[in-house]
Amino acid sequence: MNNLVIAVDGPAGAGKSTIAKIIAEKLNINYIDTGAMYRAITYKCLQNNININNEDEVIKIAKNTEIDFRDNNIYLDKRVLKEEIRTMEVSNNVSNVAKIKEVRYLMVDVQREIGTRNSVILDGRDIGSYVFPNADYKFFLVATPEERGNRRYKELINKGYEVNIDEIINDIVKRDEIDSNREFAPLVKAEDAIEIDTTGKDINEVVESVISKINI
Ligand code: DC
Repeated sequence: MNNLVIAVDGPAGAGKSTIAKIIAEKLNINYIDTGAMYRAITYKCLQNNININNEDEVIKIAKNTEIDFRDNNIYLDKRVLKEEIRTMEVSNNVSNVAKIKEVRYLMVDVQREIGTRNSVILDGRDIGSYVFPNADYKFFLVATPEERGNRRYKELINKGYEVNIDEIINDIVKRDEIDSNREFAPLVKAEDAIEIDTTGKDINEVVESVISKINI
């Protein structure tokens, strides 16, 4: 059997990673969280006190970074990353790192390399439109900003953050705007992607509608 490539794109908080992880387990294929790669670079820049708006400095960091996935975990320079890339500080800076073309080239190379070696499901913003235009299956998950904000709010409260729901929705909308309007490989639904609105749906319902479209 040829490698299977499944692309799951959509805006922040649409449920992509939750759904992609479950599908990966069900189909026994690898899961690649491409957003985690941009988060890893952002995290490294912040750790090194690099000004995120200084593109040359960010590119230098990205060029000197090794990113790898093993057992569905992301490794930054051989060190496994977990919650440190999910902080609000990283979330609020990552879109400005992800809009840098040279950074994207480097990340996309890693993504394509993994996808050519293994059967994978990748979640991101540009997987179906740019990274794997010939993916076997393409899904585009959406939900209203309020629903996405609420999901993120619950996640952050569970992690012990004191947050305000309106600010969270605002941050999400801001991130969507930067991701959708960047010049290179923006967040966009590929023409041949199947759109699924996850608003008001529970995880099982969304998993079922994705699985029902996949024939293997
Ligand atoms: O999915 P996420 O929230 O972890 O993504 C973090 C950021 O990375 C988000 O602002 C968009 C960006 N991103 C991207 O530009 N391209 C991808 N393939 C994945 C994420």
